[in-house]
Amino acid sequence: MEKHKPTREEALALLHQYNKSESLLKHAYAVEGVMRYCARKRGEDEDEWGIIGLVHDLDYERFPDQHCAMTQKILEEHGWPDAYIRAIVSHGWGICSDVEPESTLEKTLYAIDELTGLVTANAMVRPSRSVMDMSVKSVRKKWKSPAFAAGVDRSIIQKGAQMLGVEIGELIEDTINGMREVAGEIGLQGDSAEDTGP
Ligand SMILES: [Fe+2]
Ligand SMILES: [Fe+2]
Repeated sequence: MEKHKPTREEALALLHQYNKSESLLKHAYAVEGVMRYCARKRGEDEDEWGIIGLVHDLDYERFPDQHCAMTQKILEEHGWPDAYIRAIVSHGWGICSDVEPESTLEKTLYAIDELTGLVTANAMVRPSRSVMDMSVKSVRKKWKSPAFAAGVDRSIIQKGAQMLGVEIGELIEDTINGMREVAGEIGLQGDSAEDTGP
């Protein structure tokens, strides 16, 4: 029997049930935004890609030592489809899971997860504190400087790009574009936009 496809509302409710940290919530929205952008670009199921991105770190705040494994348990209890769970667990390949990314969706998630961190860190040091005016070139520069956002593992991004068969530059461009679409939610729209917010 095929399990029901979760809606974004369900995914969002779960995310908020398990995550209170502002930075983790912003990371979830950033990854969702990029996954949606990449799905659209490839003519894939935008909702499926987005929802998987949204909850990929569901367990991290409460169960950091059981990352991926607890998300699997929680989502199984909620009757999520195996394909969604597999994709989510595969983002921790070689770190907290032995599930290797196979589908384009899985490889994309694996490749862009860390990259959203580098783009966010880059935005924070810009005068605009924004992704709206960010160039691929500026991210490339930070990429080459290992001391900048040292926690961002470039080798994982590199491996992900190789698996996808895309150049790093294209991956950076997609990540910036995807994050622009959710710039308001992740606080990277720039000062002027924030001032006029509700
Ligand atoms: Fe993770
Ligand atoms: Fe993540």
